Amino acid sequence: MTTAPEHYDRMLAAHYTWMLGSDIHAVAREQAELIRGLGVRPVADGDAAIDLGSGPGPQTLALAHLGFSTVTAVDLSQALLDEVVGHAETAGVAGAVRTVRADLLDALPHVTESGTAAAIVCMGDTLTHLSRPADVRTLLDGVAHALRPGGHVVLTFRDLTGELHGDDRFFPVRSTEDQLLTCFLEYVDDDTVMVHDLLHTRSEGKWRLQVGSYPKLRLAADWLSGEARRAGLHVRHAAAGPRGMRVFHAIKPNR
Ligand SMILES: C[S@@+](CC[C@H](N)C(=O)[O-])C[C@H]1O[C@@H](n2cnc3c(N)ncnc32)[C@H](O)[C@@H]1O
Repeated sequence: MTTAPEHYDRMLAAHYTWMLGSDIHAVAREQAELIRGLGVRPVADGDAAIDLGSGPGPQTLALAHLGFSTVTAVDLSQALLDEVVGHAETAGVAGAVRTVRADLLDALPHVTESGTAAAIVCMGDTLTHLSRPADVRTLLDGVAHALRPGGHVVLTFRDLTGELHGDDRFFPVRSTEDQLLTCFLEYVDDDTVMVHDLLHTRSEGKWRLQVGSYPKLRLAADWLSGEARRAGLHVRHAAAGPRGMRVFHAIKPNR
């Protein structure tokens, strides 16, 4: 079975920014509003943030715009990390941004000292790319360990626990004159849904179809809140947000 990182390498990375609407800086402004609205901001010089599963960097740019002095973008796609660097240069925040090619499940001890990170985000449905619910638990434990007291974690993800039927399983993601992306969901079991991406691209008047499939986790918002509490985090916000995502915000309590 193709894993999510393999699917990005083979198919999605080259089209991901197009999929977001092509204007990464507009998406970054929207994400900065969301993060600021949750009360996440640097409070001291040198405050560092980490963006797990950065993709082309909408949240990395947002965190840099919000004033975090270092933002570490972690992703397994080198193509997307290269995009982050280019977008950070265009946005004038290259000095604050560094990229690390790593698996988000074990990256934290390598990119930050324990108990020091001011903010950690994993947004845009990256969380559902993990292989099993136990991995989400491992990630939350790692986040709780890496955050400083009072530090923030923000997660945004699609709650895919409710099963869709018939035509409702097809999603037109984006269409422009020469490109069209449609997504189809196939329910496997209580924990997993297979996502089938159908990408039509027109070149020299001919349409070509590429198909790629990968598993996504079906995470319930209440389950995530319970697991965050188990990891010692204080949940401040868990509700529906923009782009059909659930927005989850927690802090590491001051002891
Ligand atoms: C849905 S995209 C989200 C990108 C960005 N945060 C956004 O909101 O647009 C998921 C990203 O996570 C990356 N990814 C998936 N699994 C990963 C893993 N295990 N470790 C690191 N990155 C991963 C993919 O390469 C992709 O860039």
